[in-house]
Amino acid sequence: MNQDLLKQAVAKAALAYVPEGEIIGVGTGSTANFFIDGLAGMRDRIKGAVASSEASAKRLEAQGIRLFDLNEVDSLSVYVDGADEVDASFAMIKGGGAALTREKIVASVAKRFVCIADGSKKVAVLGRFPLPVEVIPLARASVARQLEALGGRPVWREGVVTDNGNVILDVHGLEITDPVGLETTINHIVGVVTNGLFARRPADVLLLGTPEGVVTTV
Ligand code: 5RP
Repeated sequence: MNQDLLKQAVAKAALAYVPEGEIIGVGTGSTANFFIDGLAGMRDRIKGAVASSEASAKRLEAQGIRLFDLNEVDSLSVYVDGADEVDASFAMIKGGGAALTREKIVASVAKRFVCIADGSKKVAVLGRFPLPVEVIPLARASVARQLEALGGRPVWREGVVTDNGNVILDVHGLEITDPVGLETTINHIVGVVTNGLFARRPADVLLLGTPEGVVTTV
């Protein structure tokens, strides 16, 4: 079964977590795109959505879903998003699409984080996928040196500017046995905006697409 079919299946399953009459948080990436397309079928039954990126905002708007700014919203009942890696504790690496900061902000306002991913994203130890770190441009080299001191191999994602006007360093070679600790440590480096570890606030529900069907873990 190809990966897109698995992504489509989990995106469809996530629609069951969308409460009627509410504003929901929507993530970024190819899996989230399938979710947005599915959400279009129930656009009249939700109030609208807060997007975690300009790309998702555009897609939501194109599907006729009303957009809200996060500053207009007190809380979100649910946030639905994909992941680059997810472990057994539902800690994740995210940011393959460079939207990690807004994703983390929107997720922080949601009562429930529903992670939608194809089976290849499930790992025993996070870190094979290079960890994205969003950095203020002026601090790119100094942050890179400190990430090296932590044992990683940071690579500048050249040509990519985030929705917030910053750059991304992808940190290779990490074996992340303490995701909460590493998330905290990297966030304390001056010049770092956010890192792609979502461990302090992991997902609450994992919908994993497998050839045998969607496996739900809570
Ligand atoms: C974007 C993300 C995505 O959720 C992550 O990269 C997964 O993407 P995809 O659904 O395309 O596999 O964090 O910043």
